[in-house]
Amino acid sequence: MAEIIGGVATTHVPSIGGAIANNKQNDPYWKPFFSGFDYVHRWLADTKPDVAVVFYNDHGLNFFLDKLPTFAIGAAKEYRNEDEGWGIPVSHSVTGHPAVSWHLINALVADDFDMTVCQEMLVDHAVTIPLALMWPTAAKTGQWPVRIVPVEINTVQHPLPSLARCLKLGRSIGRALESFPENLRVVVIGTGGLSHQLDGERAGFINKDFDKQCMDALAKEPEAITRHSIHDLVELAGAQGVELLNWMAMRGALTGAVTEVHRNYHIPVSNTAGATMVFENRPTARLRAA
Ligand SMILES: [Fe+2]
Repeated sequence: MAEIIGGVATTHVPSIGGAIANNKQNDPYWKPFFSGFDYVHRWLADTKPDVAVVFYNDHGLNFFLDKLPTFAIGAAKEYRNEDEGWGIPVSHSVTGHPAVSWHLINALVADDFDMTVCQEMLVDHAVTIPLALMWPTAAKTGQWPVRIVPVEINTVQHPLPSLARCLKLGRSIGRALESFPENLRVVVIGTGGLSHQLDGERAGFINKDFDKQCMDALAKEPEAITRHSIHDLVELAGAQGVELLNWMAMRGALTGAVTEVHRNYHIPVSNTAGATMVFENRPTARLRAA
């Protein structure tokens, strides 16, 4: 059976891609953010996942404002990136895992999540930058050690799904992954956030206290922040801080005994609170057997 080994959450702002392309990882501005990935690299080398389920939001590369699903899932053999106009290099394609995708799709629809199913799908910086941060060598060669299933959540055009709904989406995916019949090691990834606002009167807004509350809640009790409506979330985390929805879905997919094993938080990363977390998941099947 597939085993969910843990979850990784990370900021995905496009300027990180520029820093990688220009080898700025050790510059004083960037080092506090990139050094937060040293632990992630060791953790991935130890845990060796085969598949990554990536919760993210598309910024206009695959979906645009005219047709923007609340929840979409990839079922493609391969996911390409294209020039998004941020001035960052186009990323190598990533291989998909259609069998896992269809297993999840069947389970999700049976669980009343009416997903938009994408048998062709471009993935933007919200997928490619987290992958490049997690596997920097593979990002250069295109020899990714994982196959991916992208799960897209609308954080761009209101109305947005609630934190509670995204937690349930993640839980549904977590349960489905546990019933996938092959022995696969799965990491779930949530990208975006944390607090930031790119436009309007509050451009540059960051809320360190709320970010800490969210990270603490994700570690111990994710339900604690589901009381916040989307409007609360915009006020507390900023207009683009709503990307926390992706982190919430990732956390929901961790269905076993969850332990926070790493946290890095640094301000600013391009007007964003840059944050990285790693959670270990002790699968329920193994807990039952113990
Ligand atoms: Fe974003």
